[in-house]
Formats: sequence, C-alpha cells, structure tokens
Amino acid sequence: MSAHSEFQKILYKAEVENSLSRGEICAVLETRNPVEIDNLFNTADRMRQRWVGDEVHVRGLIEISNHCRRDCLYCGLRKSNLKLERYRMTDDEIIETVRTAASLGARTIVIQSGEDPRLTSSRVAGLVGQIKDEVDVAITLSLGEYSPGDFIAMKRAGADRYLLKHETIDRGLYNRLHPDMDYENRICCLEWLKEAGFQVGAGIMVGLPGQTIESIADDILFMKFMELDMAGIGPFIPHPETPLCGAEAGTLEMTLKVIAITRIIIPCLLIPATTAIGTIEFGGRECALRCGANVIMPNATPQKYRKLYQIYPNRICADDSPENCLICVEGMIKSLGRNVATDFGHSYQFKKSMATIRDGKKAGVC
Ligand code: 5AD
Ligand code: FES
Repeated sequence: MSAHSEFQKILYKAEVENSLSRGEICAVLETRNPVEIDNLFNTADRMRQRWVGDEVHVRGLIEISNHCRRDCLYCGLRKSNLKLERYRMTDDEIIETVRTAASLGARTIVIQSGEDPRLTSSRVAGLVGQIKDEVDVAITLSLGEYSPGDFIAMKRAGADRYLLKHETIDRGLYNRLHPDMDYENRICCLEWLKEAGFQVGAGIMVGLPGQTIESIADDILFMKFMELDMAGIGPFIPHPETPLCGAEAGTLEMTLKVIAITRIIIPCLLIPATTAIGTIEFGGRECALRCGANVIMPNATPQKYRKLYQIYPNRICADDSPENCLICVEGMIKSLGRNVATDFGHSYQFKKSMATIRDGKKAGVC
C-alpha cells in the first residue's frame, strides 16, 4: 500500500471514529505532501460544517490590564519586561467598553488580563455581576490561575466561560517556559473550572522552541480527554523583550494542521481563528476559519490601551478601534460565505447537557 493511501486511511478513520492514536496524529502533522494537506484541510472544513454548521461566533475581546505577576519566557507581559508601560482599566471604563461591543453585535465578551494581583475574585465577581445586570451578553473570563473558591465566586457572579490555555502538555517544556509556575496546578485549574460549572477552554501555542510533534499530538489527546468546550490554538511569536527573542516563530501551515486535526478528532469544539494566526500571516484567520475554526475574537479594547497589551509584537488591529474590528470581522465572515451567529454561542457540549437536564433524556444536539 502506498504512503498516500495510508494517509487517507488515517484521515478516514479520524472522520468516522473521531479518534486517532498518538502515532497517527503525528503522521498527519508530519506530512509535507500538498495533496494530503489539502485533504486534511478539506476534511476539517467538512467536519466543521457537519457538526457545528456555518455560523461563526463573534466574541468581543477586552484586555482590561497588562499587569502580570508571572514571568513566562515567551510573553511580552512578563513581569521582567520593564520596558512595557502598564495599564489597568477602571470598572467604569470596562462597563462602557462592554456596552460598545454589545451595541456592535457581540453576544459574548471575553475579559482578558495578565495575572494581575489587583484582580481579586471579589472584584472580578462584582464586575461580572454589574455587566450581567446591565448588558445582555455571555461572559468569558481569561485572567489566569486562581483557587477553586475564587473560580466558584466568579461563576456564581454569572460568568459563563473561562479560558486558560495549558500552553503545552509536555511537562519538561512547560517547566522550562514557566519558571515560577506549577504544571500540576495548571491542569488542576482546568478541573476546578469544570467543577465550578464553567464552559472551559484550554489550548496551546504551536512552534514553541523545543516543542515536538509528539507533544502536540499529546496536547490534542489531552484536550479530547478533558472534554473541553473550547480550544485556542495559535502560533508562538517571539517577543523582542523576552528570553525567547531569538527563537523562530511557529508556522501558519503547522498551526492550521493542528486546528484541522483537532476539529476532526473533537468535532463539537469551539475553535477560534486566533489573532496570533492573523499576525504571522496576512489572511491567516480566514485560513483558520476554512480549516475547522468557528469562532473569532475581534479586539474591543479601547485604542489607547491595545498597543500596550503586547503579548507578542506587531499584533494585527493594534491601531484600530472596537468599531473597526467588529465590523471588519463581520465582513470577513460574510466573504467566506458563512454567517455571524446571533445567539450567545454556548458550547455544543454545554447545550447538550442543558437539554439533557431540561428534557430528562439524552438530546441529539451533537
Ligand atoms: N506568542 C504567541 N502567543 C502568546 N501568548 C503569550 N505570549 C505569546 C507569544 N509570544 C498567548 C498564550 C497565552 C495567551 C494569553 O497569549 O497562549 O495563554
Ligand atoms: Fe503573565 Fe505568563 S507572563 S501569565
């Protein structure tokens, strides 16, 4: 049997069984054959269409603080980056920004920050409660690690989802990249978030220095095992003011391959076309939406702050306004022949469990 038909067999198995071994995932990620890569992307696009439809969920991203107590080797917000001018938005500024994003059509607001010690769970809970009282939006938080009790307080205040990328499941690599963090705690946070009742997103960077194909395969298997609602997959981009300044960036092709095989193996997942993909290559987000992604997170941060939220350099949209970004992604979605989702965009897994509770039986949502 030729290598080419072997590849087809693996793809076929992935499509039918939604499961592959570590070795099979590696074989898919390693291919350089343009016909096979095309098949992979087309299969992922078909799976996306079949399982989660043509709707793209638009989430307005508000970066509320660039203070961070951590020192991740790749991140421009790391505390050792003394060149970065730091900012914090006030509650009033945040609420006003949420209103603007909602008026422009965002049904979900993603509130993101560095790990800012001033963002105590009680302040976050107060903010979430106020937003929920005043604006009809779903809320995703992406604020880093907290205790189980903190997560429960945020959930009780009304937050719907939480994004905490695990970055890499390779313990050695994780430890090298996060000198002041604990691998076990990161994974525990994902468990605590699930127990608190959040829809949970994890995710990885592709192309981290020292990352292997095998460890990316493990990341995908981990994300399946965790029964996540969302997965953020973006390329690593070196930041000049970090110890990884001289490292090579992740590639568009490998990032798209990871998105595609993730869609095929975990078909119901919410997968964003990340800003980082759009930053490494013009049109990268459109490519991601054609390879399995079904979410986009336009930047809704006020213009004066967004330049300062420099997790990596040359981020797209750094000079745009919330209006520009939200209108721009709507045009992008339509130009791809897709629709902007009008509901809150809860995960399919979440909707299924809600329907099960409501109907007292298994509902066939997904
Ligand atoms: N390149 C790409 N992504 C990065 N992130 C942080 N630094 C970088 C970088 N240099 C991502 C991480 C983090 C998210 C907020 O931003 O995945 O979880
Ligand atoms: Fe802020 Fe990593 S540098 S969490």
